[in-house]
Amino acid sequence: MKTLHLICAARPNFMKIAPLYHALKNENWCDLKIVHTGQHYDYQMSQAFFDDLDLPSPHYSLEVGKGTHAEQTGQTMLAYEKLCLTESRPNLVVVVGDVNATLACSIAAKKLNLKVAHLEAGLRSFDRSMPEEINRIVTDSISDYYWTPSEDATKNLLREGVHPEQISFVGNIMIDTHCMMKDKINKKRTSELFGVEEGGYVVMTLHRPINVDSKEILQSIFEKISQIDLPLIFPVHPRTKKALTEIKNIPKNLKIVDPLGYVDFMNLISSAAYIISDSGGIQEETTYLGIPCFTLRDTTERPITITIGSNQLVNIYNLLDKIKHPKKGSIPPLWDGKTSERIKDIIERII
Ligand code: UD1
Repeated sequence: MKTLHLICAARPNFMKIAPLYHALKNENWCDLKIVHTGQHYDYQMSQAFFDDLDLPSPHYSLEVGKGTHAEQTGQTMLAYEKLCLTESRPNLVVVVGDVNATLACSIAAKKLNLKVAHLEAGLRSFDRSMPEEINRIVTDSISDYYWTPSEDATKNLLREGVHPEQISFVGNIMIDTHCMMKDKINKKRTSELFGVEEGGYVVMTLHRPINVDSKEILQSIFEKISQIDLPLIFPVHPRTKKALTEIKNIPKNLKIVDPLGYVDFMNLISSAAYIISDSGGIQEETTYLGIPCFTLRDTTERPITITIGSNQLVNIYNLLDKIKHPKKGSIPPLWDGKTSERIKDIIERII
């Protein structure tokens, strides 16, 4: 029996570990442990996703919580090292995505000479002012196994000197999550909760420091979206909630709501006219669903959502023009719901 740690910390991680957990949970060679570092801790940012995705309570909760980047990263390293030394020494550590815990746990594990696999490896925005870009680069400089969602990610790793044998192009795990939850998603009618008609509304999400940490920038985004002639549903992330307290002019067409669970949110975006967001994962989910997405950022680490998918980068100056030209796009290779099966085969081989 081999012990495998699935590390999760923040909202986007829970969606990525769920299909892998379900693909591995009944394998008799695998002692599967979910490690929750505690970066996201509110019910709506964490437990709601465990409930929706049918995940058991984490086997280990490190309860690191909020803090500066160094505090969060350092405390996660300390807590995870202690776990590996005293309670559970894994044969393989799987880290996902690009949050602070991805970086912290991969460093702590490698210093203990443990094997690390990075799921969603190789994505690059080439913008080092994004904390996630630093997390991606550092994690990808020390991992043992690299599981990429797209060929651009594989190319980035090869260019950075990763050996081809360490890289597997496995596809996009978030699509597995969607496929796994499809029936539940389709049964919902989230738009009814907000009194809007299917196809007649926009969903907006914003939480990147670059968009929400400055009152002036957030105010100018609001000024632009007040000119959109559709209602906008705006599920608000805790970081953005803090920023909103300082904003005076909330547009009349903006409906501010609490963060939604996975199933409700997926149903809401699948019936939207289009999405305005600065999220990473939503660029992929909208590409899969063929829903136009306008990403309010200068760069993306997921260029395939632009070259093949329905995503476009926008800024506050061109947003109103761009939304007149939505894109449907198509689905990238291996975004087929079978990524977790491919990873299961790889894990069985390597451990
Ligand atoms: C983190 C990730 C980001 C990801 C996002 C998804 C990093 C560097 N950033 O950003 O990549 O897209 O999660 O949501 O890892 N807070 C709460 N309750 C919670 C969680 C957070 O109130 O359950 C508050 C924190 O106290 C903090 C703020 O929200 O003040 C930001 O949380 P933090 O985890 O530091 O970063 P995110 O902006 O959520």
